[in-house]
Parts: sequence; structure tokens; C-alpha cells
Amino acid sequence: MLIRRPADIPASRITPREVFERRRAFLRRGVGMLAAATWGGAARGRHAADTRPLAPLAASPLSTDEAPTALDRILSYNNFYEFGAGKGDPSLYAHALPIRPWSVVVDGLVARPRRFDIDDLLALAPLEERIYRLRCVEAWSMVVPWVGYPLAALLRQVEPLGSARYVVFESYYDPAVVHPHFFGFLEFPYIEGLRLDEALHPLTLLTLGLYGETLPRQNGAPVRLVVPWKYGYKSAKSVVRIRLVEEQPLTSWPRADHRNYGFYANVNPALEHPHWDQRRERRIGEFLKRPTQMFNGYADQVAAMYSGMDLQRAF
Ligand code: MTE
Repeated sequence: MLIRRPADIPASRITPREVFERRRAFLRRGVGMLAAATWGGAARGRHAADTRPLAPLAASPLSTDEAPTALDRILSYNNFYEFGAGKGDPSLYAHALPIRPWSVVVDGLVARPRRFDIDDLLALAPLEERIYRLRCVEAWSMVVPWVGYPLAALLRQVEPLGSARYVVFESYYDPAVVHPHFFGFLEFPYIEGLRLDEALHPLTLLTLGLYGETLPRQNGAPVRLVVPWKYGYKSAKSVVRIRLVEEQPLTSWPRADHRNYGFYANVNPALEHPHWDQRRERRIGEFLKRPTQMFNGYADQVAAMYSGMDLQRAF
């Protein structure tokens, strides 16, 4: 079974300080080895060295039991088109991303619009470690120990109005900073969106770290979204603005190619995609492919939100 129920979580899974410190030392060693390996490795090490530990972290009953993907893979195989179209580009070029000071404006159809400093966000709610699969539409997947808390905790602060139906996420964009060989297909800033009920779902994570530390730049520092039952492109990185609106927004991928990238982007093995077979996926670091699960394995939690919808049309 994918989801651990709260009753199955022993108190020992709440990371005690000494375990956390040991893990940290281990990670630092790993990062050091990586930095020594190659020039690309040195770049990744530099980014990782910019991160700092986040503690204490509560374990989440919503974590998968699967083994997390190795940290060096998570740091070096990325999609972050502002910093290049190659999987290795973000780890080489995202060092240009200025992550402090940083703030996120939350506005639109809300009673209390507000700008949140990154330190306010880090302190807003208890940080959890949530081990989720990230399933990309390109038919690969990873398992990442993310750190964050439900986006709902942030949205509650601004008091959404009754007329708000969608939430729009805007990523950082400065043409002077992004890597010049960026992917011409997408327009920036990168825009993503969710229906309000999806945004308020407890699985939707406002993400501030991974592997026990603040987010590395190539993974969307200092704050990103992770929506585990949807293809990875819904998980906007380096978010600067969250806006509540009435109409479904035109988001970056459907804007670039509406036939192949939908607004909903729910993981769906029955989906026909012209470039990638969605029935199976390759877990990064593994050789053999494995079957893809409907809603990335979270059907019990999320399927009810789409009852009555034709998921081939609303893809
Ligand atoms: N966010 C921004 N701003 N720009 C991007 O190019 N790529 C998306 C998503 N968020 C992207 C983004 C895609 S396609 C994926 S699969 C995930 O980020 C990858 O996240 P990761 O590199 O941390 O694994």
C-alpha cells in the first residue's frame, strides 16, 4: 500500500535531533564527494552548499514507503527551463538565481492580501518531511523527501473570497538572470494553476526544502509547489506570486501546446501523449520501467475531486 495511515506511524518516525544531525553529516559528506567528482559536480556542490538545515521535521503519514532517489540525482536531473533545456543545465546555471531577500505576494480574490517574506513562510506552519513521487510527463519519476506544509495553511492566512475558484502561481523571472540558451518553446514568467479545491487539498505541499535542508536552486529555491498526483510541470518553482482568481488561467504548457499539455495534468496511464507512453515510467537510477499508477498512486485521496469529469478531455 502506498499511503501510510496515521495509526501506522510510530513515534520513532518523528525525526529526533541526533538522527537528523547524523543525516545532515551524511548529506554533507555526499555533497563533498559530489563536488570533488567533476566540474559539473562542483557546480552542484556549490548550490547544495548554499542550503541550510531545516529542523525539527515531523514525519508525514502521507509519505510513500519507497526508497528516496539519491540526492545527487535529484540535484543534477532537473527541469527548470529558465536555466536551460538540458536536464543538467539547471545544476550548472541556476546559481544566478537570487534567493535572498525573497518574498511571495498572495493576492487577488482574498480578504487579506499580503506579502510574505521567506522567513515568514518558513515559520508559518510546522515543517513536515513528505516523501512523494514526482512523476514527469516525460515518463520518468523520482522519489523525493520534500520539506514543507500544506499550501492550505498559507491560503487560510489571506482568507479566500467566495468568488475565488482558481489559484495562479507565478515563478521568478528576470531576463537578465536566466540562462541565455533558454528553451524558446515556453514563455516566461512560468505560470501554473490549480483549481481552489486542488490547492486546498492536504497533499498539495508548499515546499521549502528537500533531504532535510532548504531547497537547492535547481529544485526551485526558495519556495515551490509540489502536487504529487499531477505531472511534474504543475509543481511551479521559485514562486513569487500566488493569485486567487475566478477564471481558469492559461498556464505555461497549454499556452505553448494545448494539444499535448492540459491544465489538469493528472497522472493518467490511459492518456495518449504523442511523445511519451504514459503507461510506464522509468524511475531515475533504475533500468527497468514500472507501470504508472492512476493519479500517481493517490487515487484514494484525490479521485473524488474529479467525479463526473471526462479525464480524457479534461487532461
Ligand atoms: N517551474 C519553473 N519555474 N520552470 C520550469 O521549467 N519545470 C517543471 C516543474 N516546475 C519548471 C518548473 C517540470 S516540467 C518538472 S518535471 C518539475 O519542475 C521538475 O522538478 P525538479 O527539477 O525539482 O525534479
